[in-house]
Amino acid sequence: MAIDRKPEFFKGTQLKVGIIGCGYVGLPLGLRFAEAGHKVTGFDTDPKKVSMLNAGKSYIEHIQQAKIQQYVNSRHFRATTDFSELKDIDAIIICVPTPLDERREPDLSYVENTGLSIYPHLQKGQLVVLESTTYPGTTEELLLPILEKSGLKCPIAAGPDAENVAGDFFLAFSPEREDPGNKQYGLAQIPKVVGGTNPPSGRAAVALYTPIVAKVVPVSSTRAAEMAKLLENIFRCVNIALVNELKMLSLRMNVDIWEVIDAAATKPFGFMPFYPGPGLGGHCIPVDPFYLSWKAREYDFATRFIELAGEVNTAMPYHVVEAVATALNDRKKAIKGSKILILGVAYKKDVDDLRESPTLKIMQLLQQRGAELDYNDPYFPQLHKMRHYNYENMKSVPLNPQTIGSYDGVVIATDHTSYDYAAIVDAAKLVVDTRNATRRVVRHRDKIVLC
Ligand SMILES: NC(=O)c1ccc[n+]([C@@H]2O[C@H](COP(=O)([O-])OP(=O)(O)OC[C@H]3O[C@@H](n4cnc5c(N)ncnc54)[C@H](O)[C@@H]3O)[C@@H](O)[C@H]2O)c1
Repeated sequence: MAIDRKPEFFKGTQLKVGIIGCGYVGLPLGLRFAEAGHKVTGFDTDPKKVSMLNAGKSYIEHIQQAKIQQYVNSRHFRATTDFSELKDIDAIIICVPTPLDERREPDLSYVENTGLSIYPHLQKGQLVVLESTTYPGTTEELLLPILEKSGLKCPIAAGPDAENVAGDFFLAFSPEREDPGNKQYGLAQIPKVVGGTNPPSGRAAVALYTPIVAKVVPVSSTRAAEMAKLLENIFRCVNIALVNELKMLSLRMNVDIWEVIDAAATKPFGFMPFYPGPGLGGHCIPVDPFYLSWKAREYDFATRFIELAGEVNTAMPYHVVEAVATALNDRKKAIKGSKILILGVAYKKDVDDLRESPTLKIMQLLQQRGAELDYNDPYFPQLHKMRHYNYENMKSVPLNPQTIGSYDGVVIATDHTSYDYAAIVDAAKLVVDTRNATRRVVRHRDKIVLC
């Protein structure tokens, strides 16, 4: 590996790119680099995923098998569990999970373990980029010291005097903005923020990403790049909480919040619509803001908006269960002993992703109150044991008028596009709709309870 490698090296075509963590973020990123002509190696600790990838198979619904097959066949993409192969890579991109632990504090063990897997193989001139969402300071305070155990150095420096500061390797942070299932904005259309540990690292990362995304947005430090991602997600989390709170008020006031949002959204400036729902879901929005709250404590700072938004959003599944109880009560029934069908367990429509799905909490609360539950989700033929829930023996029930009609109530938790909402309402005795999925249904509106 060249010891005097310049940042401009990463403008090259046919680079050897290593992606660590081939999940929702890492896999599409790897395929995008392959598409641009680079030689990509996916590193993952899960041998099952590695063998599926090498066989050209996809394990993520919206990532086409044909695409993986194409780049495996053309030798632009392969996967491995052998981290010693990192020594031959030019640019190493880390896309491992950053969840919360049992106490809802950042669990950086995946990033830490990845650093420990990289450093024995780290070479002069390599570029390492962290993409996992995390608090400002992670790249410099956690990852850099681990990588420097290799004996190689990457100085933290900024400003005009540091333009050409010398280092042995390059290190940067660049947050992923992947929105699984979004057909309008794929990776190639989304601008990418990049911050280096020092200016040459920043330039190296800009050079690497420029050919594969719409636009690269350089910022002055890894901290600024880390914080930018958190601002984006906190913005969503807080606005979703706001609209969830206004929904609860609107329900009491007998005002249709969805109509209100659509009306407000006609303002061509200064407003952006957010929609209420049964609670937050997905790997990012319910989790990432708490990375910042945790870090803020080190600075004796209370992130009150984040805490308040968390409180409102966490209460939503309880609100849904109360709405089910009230609707059944109106029909002279109790939750206890009632047969309830849940539609949609994915955290949002049209994705095969269950992580942090509020449906799982709603199901737990309904079961605790004695409901007999079944579910349907075209993306999950069966459920399994998870960290917080055990739905091991549950299988998606087929949707037909007879089955739908056999339940005391149907709860629309996820508004998958494939559902025929008019037919569901026709067949059901009661529909509790958490997403306003039935907005276009005209028949039997008396069976629908919006919540
Ligand atoms: N999913 C999204 O929509 C999204 C969007 C933006 C940012 N992010 C962020 O990107 C990061 C990755 O999220 P994801 O959704 O791709 O996670 P994921 O769980 O889908 O994928 C992570 C992959 O990393 C692998 N892995 C775990 N530990 C490893 C290790 N030590 N070495 C190598 N591989 C390892 C896992 O086997 C898995 O394949 C997170 O920080 C997340 O917050 C996710």
